[in-house]
Amino acid sequence: MSSELFKVNNKIALITGGSRGLGLDMAEGLLLAGASKIYISSRKASACDESVKYLSDLAKKHNLRCEAIAIPADLGSRAGCEALAKEFVKREQKLDILIANAGATWGADFDSHPDEAIGKVLDLNVRGVFSTIQLFAPFLRKAGTSEDPSRVLITGSIAGIRAVSSGGTYGYLASKAAVHHLGRSLASELGPENITVNILAPGFFPSKMSNGVLSVIGKELTETNPRRRLGVKQDIIGTTVFLCSPAGNYINGVVLPIDGGASVSKL
Ligand SMILES: NC(=O)c1ccc[n+]([C@@H]2O[C@H](COP(=O)([O-])OP(=O)(O)OC[C@H]3O[C@@H](n4cnc5c(N)ncnc54)[C@H](OP(=O)(O)O)[C@@H]3O)[C@@H](O)[C@H]2O)c1
Repeated sequence: MSSELFKVNNKIALITGGSRGLGLDMAEGLLLAGASKIYISSRKASACDESVKYLSDLAKKHNLRCEAIAIPADLGSRAGCEALAKEFVKREQKLDILIANAGATWGADFDSHPDEAIGKVLDLNVRGVFSTIQLFAPFLRKAGTSEDPSRVLITGSIAGIRAVSSGGTYGYLASKAAVHHLGRSLASELGPENITVNILAPGFFPSKMSNGVLSVIGKELTETNPRRRLGVKQDIIGTTVFLCSPAGNYINGVVLPIDGGASVSKL
């Protein structure tokens, strides 16, 4: 067995929503697995810079040659997605790994749920994901070969699989079901072009986005989870590295729950 099976040596990766939370965890995993460059994007330039510093320090600590680069952009609009691609092309001609992870949520009662909140969530979580993949496809096509396809990971959610415990996040759960389906469709379409597309469906992981919900029902979610815990950094890193490394070469079009079995159990 090759020692490279779970490595991403010399790969260039771009992670949207990489400034914190799951996106930053994924960046860390790819860095430790041998990536040569990691592009981080989110709206706030200062947050991107902080994550770049964190990753650069980590590379130094582990004696790894990995460059982290920030490209801030608002991916809730087509113009923002185009701005990201425009900055990227100034530096790179190809991209090995694209992680479309930026996402947002909104929770409110059904009767008072603001229409504009639904639109905003769908714009980022669905349109933004589609636009990012579409705009970066030319770079992914250049990097992928039949022996080693370039990889797209979409961060979906357990909320796109089961609709209980939604906490009034109507736009969010619809958006995640939508990107699961979008990802499967793109896997079939882009596979022949040496690009695989897979979808991660995390359960609950502590993060800025989920901490509000977790402060209310975190204990219940932990106790009812078949593994009796929430997700941790290693869970997301392990699946990301697996899917982006030679070990994940033949996996295409899966929606992979990372949830301890919550999606197949009763709450
Ligand atoms: N945590 C969980 O339990 C969980 C479970 C299932 C799925 N997920 C999914 O995992 C992904 C990451 O979530 P997280 O939990 O890590 O949340 P988080 O800590 O809130 O991170 C969200 C990231 O997206 C960026 N972002 C937000 N709006 C953006 C916009 N308009 N344009 C560009 N970037 C934007 C944020 O940075 P800025 O604020 O600087 O833009 C941040 O980097 C999301 O797609 C989420 O739906 C999370």
